Amino acid sequence: MESSKLVDSFNRRTTKVRISVTDKCNFACFFCMPIDPIWMPRADVLTYEEIVRVVKVLKHLGINEVKLTGGEPLVRKDIEVLVNEISQVIEDISMTTNGFFLNEKARLLHENGLRRVTVSLHSLRRERFKFITNVDALERVITGIRAAKDAGLSPVKINSTIIRGRNDDEILDLLEFAIREGVSIRYIEFMPFDGKNFWSLDKVIAGAEIKNTIESRYKLIELPRGVGSTSSNYMIKGTDTTVGFITSVTQPFCSDCDRIRIMANGSLVPCMFGNMEFDFRHLLREGASDDDLEKFFIDKVGNKFAGVETMVHEKAIPSHIRPMYTIGG
Ligand code: 5AD
Ligand code: SF4
Repeated sequence: MESSKLVDSFNRRTTKVRISVTDKCNFACFFCMPIDPIWMPRADVLTYEEIVRVVKVLKHLGINEVKLTGGEPLVRKDIEVLVNEISQVIEDISMTTNGFFLNEKARLLHENGLRRVTVSLHSLRRERFKFITNVDALERVITGIRAAKDAGLSPVKINSTIIRGRNDDEILDLLEFAIREGVSIRYIEFMPFDGKNFWSLDKVIAGAEIKNTIESRYKLIELPRGVGSTSSNYMIKGTDTTVGFITSVTQPFCSDCDRIRIMANGSLVPCMFGNMEFDFRHLLREGASDDDLEKFFIDKVGNKFAGVETMVHEKAIPSHIRPMYTIGG
């Protein structure tokens, strides 16, 4: 595989893209949605044709992995059509979803080329799940996780965002759920993109602390960290389950970051912790050639900023840059 032409001044090469296909969501998780979300104008949201065109351009530049995100990607109509078209360009395609529609959609998604899926699940208690997401859908999401496995999506991963005083008493329960269901789990540190200015450093439970809690009961075997991996991963001894820690706040991995993000309205976000957004919807809609688009991505990625590692050490990470529903994690 030819190496990526998307290279920045720190010699980091971009090979992955996360594409938010809508900012809409049928949930309203309190750590993601503002009270009154400002939705993107419908006309600004890229069409499937536009998204596929960009994916082709990005493939030519060296991107070899696509993750579809939202909002909630499964609320976008006929999303399997987009999955199908992208998978013909880039085989490695996955999705992050809240799981609500997976029971209906998992098989169709797999048939259309989706390889793997990550389902957000932050509590196993019905009332608390409802409090977190604003929807009484715990059972439905669990059914969705099982449907994803049955459909052959592999791996199925669970994402659990842990927040001090809210669900940190469920760290082991969530792990045991993952072991029972035969899925992987990744704990995510609470990030300052909550839309309500509710985030503060004292509400963040560090990945290291979560790991300690787990090690009080289980033995973890460290797995080698893949280049650009956003999590440090472990095998839980005596099981088939892997656990990962996404330490975006306490220990971000900026130095080999290999991803970019695209918002549903056709803006490139080189780094989630940066406030830079570069619109290319206008280029697309005003007759830009593939060459013009390539130049745009090479130029914008080229200027990507270093990241937040030093800021983290100074306890000065940028907060409230944009709420998570607009970028999809
Ligand atoms: N901090 C950490 N994780 C978050 N998510 C949404 N908002 C936040 C936040 N402020 C989760 C989603 C999804 C993943 C992409 O990030 O629930 O699982
Ligand atoms: Fe929706 Fe995901 Fe945000 Fe929850 S975290 S409101 S499921 S986009």
